[in-house]
Amino acid sequence: MRYTNLKPFPANFFWGASTSAYQVEGAWNEDGKGPSVIDARKEYPEGTTDFTVASDHYHKYKEDVALLAEIGLRAYRFSIAWTRIIPDGEGEVNEAGLDFYRSLIGEIRKNGMEPIVTLYHFDLPQALMVIGGWHNRRTVEAFSRYADIVFDALGDSVRYWLTINEQNLMILQGNALGTVDPRVQNNKKNLYQQNHHMMVAQARVMDRLHEKYPDSLIGPAPNIAMIYPLSPKPEDVLAAENYNAIRNWLYLDMAVYGRYNHLVWAYMEEKGLLPEVEPEDMAILAKGRPDFIAFNYYTTQTVEASRGDGKDEVIRGGNKYLKSGEDGVHRGATNDYLPRTQFGTEIDPVGFRNTLRAIYGRYHLPLLITENGMGAYDKLESDGTINDQYRIDYLQQHIHQMQLAITDGVEILGYTPWSAIDLISTHQGCSKRYGLIYVNRDEFDLRDLRRIKKKSAYWYSELISKNGYFI
Ligand code: BG6
Repeated sequence: MRYTNLKPFPANFFWGASTSAYQVEGAWNEDGKGPSVIDARKEYPEGTTDFTVASDHYHKYKEDVALLAEIGLRAYRFSIAWTRIIPDGEGEVNEAGLDFYRSLIGEIRKNGMEPIVTLYHFDLPQALMVIGGWHNRRTVEAFSRYADIVFDALGDSVRYWLTINEQNLMILQGNALGTVDPRVQNNKKNLYQQNHHMMVAQARVMDRLHEKYPDSLIGPAPNIAMIYPLSPKPEDVLAAENYNAIRNWLYLDMAVYGRYNHLVWAYMEEKGLLPEVEPEDMAILAKGRPDFIAFNYYTTQTVEASRGDGKDEVIRGGNKYLKSGEDGVHRGATNDYLPRTQFGTEIDPVGFRNTLRAIYGRYHLPLLITENGMGAYDKLESDGTINDQYRIDYLQQHIHQMQLAITDGVEILGYTPWSAIDLISTHQGCSKRYGLIYVNRDEFDLRDLRRIKKKSAYWYSELISKNGYFI
């Protein structure tokens, strides 16, 4: 449908930006912090840095928050490092860790922004990984206790909470993210058991927040993206529907309705992947309800019917760490209608609108877009500017589609693109930049870590000041 009039963004819309602890903070072993699975990682793709210093946000957070306020952000989404609060995941509480986040939240509030806090963004305590990570039920207890401690300490100053960042990608591509033990990364049964435990942990935590702070709001934060069929061939359409269930709906059906998606249950049954479900689990899952759905959107995916010839799985976008397709289930395909970023990721703003409409149509809960953005090799010019017009184009196209979705009737609370400032990408180093603010370092030379607003920051500033009107 072509609209002649677009509905405006709501007056209290959260125009924000996003980061995660391990990708931005650095200070990986300071002030009592314990090691996470990320810190314990032994290998990095060739030519890419580790996460020990990152953007040094731990030491520069006041300057960073002031810059975000200068841009005019109304919200800042960040994550808490579990290992700053409980260094070994389930033992003593480290007060210095809580103090850091008290102080960060204080700065955010002082600067007139809303903190949106992710409890867990990929950085599981390494001590828990040693006992089997999410496969071990003790991790469910550990996460519930960690969340309780965080809610008690910070609950008065935070209203919006997110449980687990991209649980679905930790299950589907945890090897690329460095979140899964390499010994089990191909053991799908183990992974779906981990998934079940994360679901139970998430439900418990949502329930706990509601008990403790009835006015606060909490939701899951998976990565959701529509799966297209390669052609209108009915078999391709069916394959896309199946993969939509496996990649997207499994995670949200459980979070919202407290039950397993039937297509995924059938898939797990056929493949011998069914998790062990304890007698009390389904009641816990039914009780924990989200107030909104947060999700990260980067791009859609395209699949066709499986040919079951051992070649259904293909490499995506030239990135050997990312695969698409599963033998006998669906075959990965390429969408020739979509342009790509320098890193091979398809750019699909219309797919963003499709995704917003599909999620809202299925769950009828308000949506919060917690990530969306473009990784690029930005260049610091000799005059000290960063002319990232491509990022402006990317954001503008996605924001336009978001406004169309609002006009379609989709309820959206806010948009916090990735990322507020440059940080370390999950597996492609710091040369793959996403930030509105440039951080002057490269892979192995920390230079002066100076912050510089990119052209996109000035553009975003103006957009926010007009509540999205001028696009
Ligand atoms: C999301 C994650 O998958 O995408 C972020 O939540 C990540 O942590 C972002 O950085 C961009 O992906 P990448 O792999 O380019 O860093």
